[in-house]
Amino acid sequence: MKRVSLLCAAAATFLAGTALAQETFPNQPITMLVPFAAGGPTDTVARLVAEPMGKVLGQQIVIQNVAGAGGTLAAGQVAKASPDGYTILMHHIGMSTAPTLYRNLEYNPVDAFETLGLVTNVPMTLIARKDFEPNTLQELVDYVKANKDEVVYANAGIGAASHLCGMLFMNAIDTAVTTVPYKGTGPAMTDILAGEVDFMCDQSTNTTGQIKGGEVKVYAVTTPARLGNLPDVPTTAEAGLPDFQVGVWHGLYAPKGTDPATVEKINAALQTALKDVTVIERFADLGTAPVAAEEATSAAHRDYLAAQIALWKPIIEKAGVFAD
Ligand code: MLT
Repeated sequence: MKRVSLLCAAAATFLAGTALAQETFPNQPITMLVPFAAGGPTDTVARLVAEPMGKVLGQQIVIQNVAGAGGTLAAGQVAKASPDGYTILMHHIGMSTAPTLYRNLEYNPVDAFETLGLVTNVPMTLIARKDFEPNTLQELVDYVKANKDEVVYANAGIGAASHLCGMLFMNAIDTAVTTVPYKGTGPAMTDILAGEVDFMCDQSTNTTGQIKGGEVKVYAVTTPARLGNLPDVPTTAEAGLPDFQVGVWHGLYAPKGTDPATVEKINAALQTALKDVTVIERFADLGTAPVAAEEATSAAHRDYLAAQIALWKPIIEKAGVFAD
């Protein structure tokens, strides 16, 4: 009897502590993991929204770059983190492609995370080092086919958007080339600028400045319509590859089991950040925009994640690219 009373008291204390933790959340800085290198496109999106979100929550959101294994290293780390809202993850389309790409993925995205809301959908651009010979998408296709053993494509590893885009491009032209994986397209861009690698498909959030500055060559944007901030760049459809299209959606995650009240608080902060004028303007400069408020809900994000996993599975299986 005494033992039962002690257990009841312990349970009551635990529940009271949990309720208090939810009420006072957040009472310390929050860490937002970015699964790629600093200075790249995911890092840019994360830093842009983290600042206004931190203001709403009254606590700083500290960005931590945990790059490796095409984004799966950081995702695996957050999946195992304490579900208290203090460790969250900014990830992108890779969350939906990794379950098919990785044979031994240690987490199931749908079961391992609480979805905190979608953030943005970023167009991709097919770019090359400034002095790369081809000048148009058609010339690039011809050149790559004729020189497939020499040309080198940069990406951020299997699971990265740049990997997916490169795979779709190579499939579209039925030609495979050598790929060099980096810890993110931030460092890959450094090597493109230095002429160390030939070409890359990367998010406009990482390429717009270099395209506008004439530091890289651009062949096409991978969206159905041209981008307002790069009006002279043709779409892949206009330039001759109508089936080669992809956009990179981003979303925020917390470990599964995070209290619904905490999820709601983080989501409310995200919703506010996505209406922030500086965020909207900076996103527009970089060729993107915040998602609509109804897409930035936890439920919409959860449904979208599941739909994207189903969408990419057969495409990746057909391409036959896998990692262990
Ligand atoms: C990055 O932040 O480096 C990128 O999102 C990498 C990629 O997915 O291509």
